[in-house]
Amino acid sequence: MNTSFLDACNRREPAHTPVWFMRQAGRYLPSYRAVKGGRPVTEIARDPELSSQVAVDAVEALGVDAGILFADIMLPLEGMGVRFRIEENVGPIVENPVRTGDDVGALRALDPEADVGFVLDGIDATLQKLDDSVPLIGFSGAPFTLAGYMVEGRPSRDLERTKRMMYNDPDAWHGLMRALTRMVKAYLGRQVSHGVHAVQLFDSWVGCLSPADYRTYVSKYTRQIMDSLEGKVPRIHFCANSSSLLGELVGTGADVISVDWRMPISDAWKAARGRGVQGNLDPVLALAGGAAMRRGVARVLEESKGRRGHIFSLGHGVLKETPPENLRAVVRSVHAATRRRA
Ligand code: CP3
Repeated sequence: MNTSFLDACNRREPAHTPVWFMRQAGRYLPSYRAVKGGRPVTEIARDPELSSQVAVDAVEALGVDAGILFADIMLPLEGMGVRFRIEENVGPIVENPVRTGDDVGALRALDPEADVGFVLDGIDATLQKLDDSVPLIGFSGAPFTLAGYMVEGRPSRDLERTKRMMYNDPDAWHGLMRALTRMVKAYLGRQVSHGVHAVQLFDSWVGCLSPADYRTYVSKYTRQIMDSLEGKVPRIHFCANSSSLLGELVGTGADVISVDWRMPISDAWKAARGRGVQGNLDPVLALAGGAAMRRGVARVLEESKGRRGHIFSLGHGVLKETPPENLRAVVRSVHAATRRRA
């Protein structure tokens, strides 16, 4: 197995700086579009044969050092009684938003084997197809980001309803966070039992909170999830717009902090206190390609020089119009620039 990704997660010296990309299996890739056709992404994710195929196609097309389970953060919510669809170019739409204490009380507990058995079967099939070539990353949405979709009912920039519930109805809020924390622990625990080699917790939208509110309303739940996986597999914590929350995110116990491009990665290294750092090329640079992309890659590597635990990635997901060749060039140049001489 190519262990560079796990070596970096564990702060061992890897053979080269590992690379993988969020949304590496997505619409920018012709093989993905061919499998997807006109179907919603959830239909691919519910079919272990297709989901494993698109996950492994991406690894092979790009030459990355890790695969990621093909699923979506919304999928386990259905088992809790949340009905949703994912609208193309919009995002998740929830039919029955969760807005009151009664709504929270009506949520069911997730039974992973019964409710998301297809995800677990997808892990089995993906591991089989990867055949120990590279490790597989499992993932879940974090409670805050999932709550955001559940409360708003659709993608939202400022998460006003969600934050209003947090401030005005703390009992409902904490009840919702407890239910989601329980779900995420069960879900990730089962992914680990099925053999994922690492997990990433996506708290994509929590960057809209102040550090004080993060501490009051969110951090203990994230910490409980991280604690439940301690000593089992490396834990990566991703959050966009997180520069003001870095200290808080490090405090939740993740092994690797994944940051976006809005801050220099050198700032993340200073805050990471011995933990790994994942990131942080601007996804638009990967789309633009050329000299600007090469300079961006060089800067991320330069600022990470001599640091143990760097995982090279984009600051957020691969954009739809990105030429796959640009991502292959990023992988090649990161490997070439960081290869350890024997
Ligand atoms: O290789 C991979 O990373 C694919 C697996 C994956 C998907 N979603 C499949 C998907 C992963 C890791 C996710 C996580 C996810 N889903 C997040 C967290 C990461 C982040 O971007 O912050 C979030 C917030 C979602 C919710 C979601 N699902 C959104 C906002 C969208 C985009 C809608 C659009 O059309 O642009 C989706 C759809 C989705 N999930 C796609 C993929 C490949 C693209 C649409 C498609 O293929 O039909």
